[in-house]
Amino acid sequence: MSRIVIVSNRTPGKGPAAGGLAVALRKVLSEREGFWFGWSGKLTDRPSTEARFETIDGLEIAQIDLTRDDHHAYYAGFSNSILWPSFHLRLDLATIESHWYEGYRRVNQQFARALLPLLKPDDVVWVHDYHLIPLASELRQLGARNRIGFYLHIPFPTTDALYAIPHHEELMRDLSRYDLVGMQAKRDVAAFTEFAEHQAPSTFGGHKVQAIDFSRTEVEAFPIGSDPGAFAKLAVSPAATKMVHRMRRVLGEQRLILGVDRLDYSKGLPQRVEAYEKLLAHNSRLRRSVHMLQVAPPSRDSIREYQETSDTLDAICGRVMGHFAEPDWQPLTYVKRAYGQPSLAGLYRMARVGLVTPLRDGMNLVAHEFIGAQDPDDPGVLVLSRFAGAAEIFPEALLVNPFDTDETAEALRMALDMPLDERKERWTALMASAQKHNVDDWAVGFLDHLTQNASAKPSATRDVLYLASSTQPASLPEAMASQTPPAA
Ligand code: F6P
Repeated sequence: MSRIVIVSNRTPGKGPAAGGLAVALRKVLSEREGFWFGWSGKLTDRPSTEARFETIDGLEIAQIDLTRDDHHAYYAGFSNSILWPSFHLRLDLATIESHWYEGYRRVNQQFARALLPLLKPDDVVWVHDYHLIPLASELRQLGARNRIGFYLHIPFPTTDALYAIPHHEELMRDLSRYDLVGMQAKRDVAAFTEFAEHQAPSTFGGHKVQAIDFSRTEVEAFPIGSDPGAFAKLAVSPAATKMVHRMRRVLGEQRLILGVDRLDYSKGLPQRVEAYEKLLAHNSRLRRSVHMLQVAPPSRDSIREYQETSDTLDAICGRVMGHFAEPDWQPLTYVKRAYGQPSLAGLYRMARVGLVTPLRDGMNLVAHEFIGAQDPDDPGVLVLSRFAGAAEIFPEALLVNPFDTDETAEALRMALDMPLDERKERWTALMASAQKHNVDDWAVGFLDHLTQNASAKPSATRDVLYLASSTQPASLPEAMASQTPPAA
């Protein structure tokens, strides 16, 4: 069996946690031969040319150091100030400094140069996320002939948003150098298709841009999942129960509305607190009988837009407290720190409502974990953004438009008033879907497809796209360890 080589910006174990990605992929590598390759978390004066191997929790991990300047341009710059906001349709929050592209490209070249000597001819390489779109191109340029797959953990943008990204044409050409491109949702495959089929040149000089040939790239939705069975167990573990007791002592009979998200503008946190404010304003009977807990560990806080989101959230939470709190009752708790998975699992289980309302999200594994952790005899209700990839597989959640805070407030009211029978019925369907889309099947499905289906026809059960467009007219162009952040 071929070895599997996983490549991602962060690696599990030491340094900053790789979050949901680590949880999802750790199992794959514990069951198959191979290693994980990525950034060490270290910034140095000179870039490393060779990877260092280390065994962490039984996983073989190869890591390289990056220079401070390259890392800034690649991570805070091109990846998180251009690609992240654009892919999440927040061009208003993008900082378009096109020179960051050079650093982004340089780091991808550094990854490729350090990885190539470690590859055996039949290794299968699985590259993760928007930080590393050019990696297959860079590896192929150095002579790699391996099967290489790419998985995008975040949403694929609309064509207009894509056009706003400097060098988007090269990035799309880079995608065409992968054998398989996996996306979270059908919506993402549709957005990709829209671009690929309507490539339009965007040149200054009017010269024709050669259409990108996607004929050898398979693009398919592989919705990622969690391990709901493991979460069910974790939710009744001693550590989880300890957290539940701690909370119950404070809350008494109050019903808990829970949000758990990285502090990121894509998560819709200010809108969510506003919806809660409206719930309290329009339903005075609920005051004193509900409590909202928002867990929001800081993320990417060197980037101004993230600091501003944090400030906005502080202000809104303060407003709600000032308006509704009484000496002996407070409407919400807002915690800016990360909790371990067992504590989170306990919180999910005791929550009457899981409030997962990103403005746009690749999948959102918090939704999966909330479902997995519920008590089958007294399950909570999931209020879920229709703009999370998870909405495609969880139609039994209360789906809301997170921009419409009146609608979210009404969904919260419905969730709190929902009779037990309906809660059980909805949760049973949600749990069945979470089990069907579990993380093991996700990883195995992607890898099987990548290794075995080199020339297979589209499968009947998934949305697959093969684009035989090399001869298209040129008018079409570029075509948790103990303190783990919440799942992406
Ligand atoms: O959702 C995309 C993602 O890269 C996840 O894989 C990861 O858990 C999360 O964002 C955190 O990102 P960062 O590595 O920038 O802290």
